[in-house]
Amino acid sequence: MDQLSDALHASLELVAERVGDPTALVYDRLFAEQPRMRDLFVGDHNGQARGHMLQMVLDTLTNMADGAAWPANMIRAERVNHDQIGVPFNVFATFFTVVHETFRDAAGDDWTTDMEDAWTGVLARAAAA
Ligand code: HEM
Repeated sequence: MDQLSDALHASLELVAERVGDPTALVYDRLFAEQPRMRDLFVGDHNGQARGHMLQMVLDTLTNMADGAAWPANMIRAERVNHDQIGVPFNVFATFFTVVHETFRDAAGDDWTTDMEDAWTGVLARAAAA
């Protein structure tokens, strides 16, 4: 664990304290920015796929921050899988930014510079994957 990793974990805890489960906030923001992506989730009546995907994305980013090697491979694989289900490469990457912005807004004044740096840092790693 280093500072980036600690600050990323702290940001997730802060968001949970502030808003509980952030899933609805994340997808509201995603669909506002990418309205065409809403159709892909029409079958997800109970929100299970949305929740699971968000959880996987957070696991991927926290493990990437912790220095694991698998997240880069996972992102590369999912980019191709998602292209096949109708998520273009350029739209795929926007999900990371949507999560970052949603969490920053949810945390409000409690969002620290370390947290912002941690998110910027880990998303740069994700973009390089
Ligand atoms: C705007 C961007 C994205 C859209 C619209 C999107 C859409 C979806 C949809 C519709 C599914 C459900 C597929 C199905 O089971 O039929 C899914 C699953 C999944 N997505 Fe995304 N995705 C996006 C970005 C990402 C990103 C950046 C990652 C990160 C690696 C990711 C990881 C996953 C994973 C791991 C699953 C499988 C979840 C499960 O098994 O339930 N997605 N995605």
